[in-house]
Amino acid sequence: MKIAVLPGDGIGPEVAAQAVKVLQALNSEGLKIEMEHATIGGAGYDAAGDPLPEATLALSRAADAVLLGAVGGYQYDSLPRPMRPEQGLLRIRKELNLFANLRPVNVYPELADASTLKAEVVSGLDIMIVRELTGDLYFGQPRGIHVNANGEREGYNTMRYSESEVRRVAHIGFQIAMKRNKKLCSVEKANVLETSELWREVVIETAKEYPEVALSHMYVDNAAMQLVRNPKQFDVIVTGNIFGDILSDEASMLTGSIGMLGSASLDQNRKGMYEPIHGSAPDIAGQDIANPLATILSAAMMMRYTFGRDDVADRIENAVKKVISSGLRTVDIYTAGTTKVGCAAMGDAVVAA
Ligand code: NAI
Ligand code: MG
Repeated sequence: MKIAVLPGDGIGPEVAAQAVKVLQALNSEGLKIEMEHATIGGAGYDAAGDPLPEATLALSRAADAVLLGAVGGYQYDSLPRPMRPEQGLLRIRKELNLFANLRPVNVYPELADASTLKAEVVSGLDIMIVRELTGDLYFGQPRGIHVNANGEREGYNTMRYSESEVRRVAHIGFQIAMKRNKKLCSVEKANVLETSELWREVVIETAKEYPEVALSHMYVDNAAMQLVRNPKQFDVIVTGNIFGDILSDEASMLTGSIGMLGSASLDQNRKGMYEPIHGSAPDIAGQDIANPLATILSAAMMMRYTFGRDDVADRIENAVKKVISSGLRTVDIYTAGTTKVGCAAMGDAVVAA
């Protein structure tokens, strides 16, 4: 298993180091994980004058999977846009053609009080949002701002999906549903959008290859309501880029703790980039207090989705559960009566578990 490790900026290196520790611990038990580090984001700019240095891209292409920390920092705010840390992230996603973004949202019963929703609504929540990542309004042409016939400025973007773009992400949704509880909800707005009408047709066609999966369809406005009304009705959700952007951020906040959520972005061959959903948290960087569990859980996703090692993924996820049950907490999830630990100590605890 060849893994490119891109720690990035801020707390990125701190949390990535904990996931590396966990993978190394697995190595000592016979897995063959090779890890090589490279720079990205502000660290890439500092080292090579580019937020995505050539060597980093080459290493990432050659690897089976990429483990990323986070990028960004205020010291880079005055750089021209192409040199900004975030551009490194956007470019690597595009260069590696990572079209399917997987965002699990789960709430450990012990942490249900961190949510702004009632504990009983979210406790034990376990859903997976599959968001298409390389098409839709964010990439569709034509786009721009022009002066229209009335002499007024007008902005426009184009929502576009081809059949093949829908089909490949639908397959990912069905395959994940097969591995979980065989339940998939496709979210679009087929009552008003042609793009969504095609989306629904292609999803229904694709469903023929997965007769065991119970497929449902939901309009995105209703899905937004249902996610806060009764999120546990969902298992796997598959949706387009813009709807998925909004719904996945909404869903992540059901948990109340940004430091617990990992993500995966996959290409056609299950090569993937794995990263926490949070950013570089410059406000707490360098203090050894960041929560590394989102990154460790991202490494578990890597074992599951790129390497097909559900057994190893389960072990990592169970170790995290055990550590949470034992009452260890980083500051972001700390509540009275639990034990506060730092970033490195949390990583050690997961290794031990
Ligand atoms: P952020 O996610 O870095 O931080 C938001 C808040 O959550 C902060 O108070 C932070 O301390 C806290 N937080 C985040 N991760 C945490 C963790 N693991 N443990 C404990 N607390 C944690 O978002 P923000 O502040 O909007 O952005 C900071 C920088 O990160 C910016 O430069 C931004 O562009 C970049 N960013 C990068 C992302 C990425 O690399 N994927 C994603 C989002 C933002
Ligand atoms: Mg977003």
